[in-house]
Amino acid sequence: MSELRTVEWVNGKVRVIDQTRLPDKFTYVTYGDYRYVAKAIKNMVIRGAPAIGVAAAMGLALAANAAKRTADQEKFMRRLQTAAEVMRKSRPTARNLFWAIDRMLKKAETAQGGPSDVAAGLVEEAQRIAEEDIEANRKIGEYGAALMKDGDCVLTHCNAGTLATVSYGTALAPIRTAITHGKRIRVFATETRPRLQGAKLTTYELLRDGIPVTLIVDGAVGYVMNKGMVSMAIVGADRITSRFVANKVGTYMIALAAQANGLSFYVAAPSSTFDLRPEQTEVKIEERSAQEVTHIGGKRVAPKGVNVFNPAFDLTPNELVTGFVTEKGVIQPSMLSAVLST
Ligand code: MRU
Repeated sequence: MSELRTVEWVNGKVRVIDQTRLPDKFTYVTYGDYRYVAKAIKNMVIRGAPAIGVAAAMGLALAANAAKRTADQEKFMRRLQTAAEVMRKSRPTARNLFWAIDRMLKKAETAQGGPSDVAAGLVEEAQRIAEEDIEANRKIGEYGAALMKDGDCVLTHCNAGTLATVSYGTALAPIRTAITHGKRIRVFATETRPRLQGAKLTTYELLRDGIPVTLIVDGAVGYVMNKGMVSMAIVGADRITSRFVANKVGTYMIALAAQANGLSFYVAAPSSTFDLRPEQTEVKIEERSAQEVTHIGGKRVAPKGVNVFNPAFDLTPNELVTGFVTEKGVIQPSMLSAVLST
């Protein structure tokens, strides 16, 4: 899968792999208007924190190209700001989305020249963000692979692979690199209710790469750990603050089960996922539709009228994390601010 790009700038448009159709159909969708990119993020055609950050950056590049015919710099900037607001509303939790939008706006504000020059600079910046994502993942792969031994069985949750990034993945990167280094690694993938990113996407990626993977239901995590079937757990993240890791709902229970069974629990993420601003005490957890829970494969399985609470993410206290695997190395939770603010 690492030869594929989940999101890419192709001939002045944004091309993404349509994740809603996997694993049955592998198709690309191409967008020429930022509003459709925002909709694709909202509807999870493209998903995963790093991938939606890059998609948002490319969406802003589309908006800049559409606005560049005006000679009025202020009008151009206003149109860019409007596009940025639409992008910000697409999903609330992933830090990478807001990080990428802020970086693009800063680039626009500091760029020299008229709207055409600024737009050209933004197209380049979006592509740079995409390239940096792949580079970061490769480094995460190297640092994380060193934590794995030949014969290890690694448990992962949701999808933090190529499909959640531009390519190569975050939590799946160390597994890929360790295998490249000749280690035999097997994977347990949780199905990840309710959207089934583990069942549909992680197993698809790993099978495609010939990496041994076993699918388990989310509730089997404690059992397989207690039975000695797992060597460690590694997950991605949507936002990491100085106190918590916000990641796909279910992550917290995996971290607790790892602790109870004496297993390492790692979180793999690039710097763009970290939000160590001192004022950042609250993380907005996205709540998605009740239908994601009451229906499976479009068929209702819960009684009509039942109350549903469907948080898409949860918060794992940093104390439960053995180490953060980043492109700058493996960081202990207590060292986060010291290492990442430099
Ligand atoms: O709701 P999703 O599928 O966008 O959630 C994705 C996750 O929770 C991933 O684990 C996270 O973004 C890390 S991806 C490298």
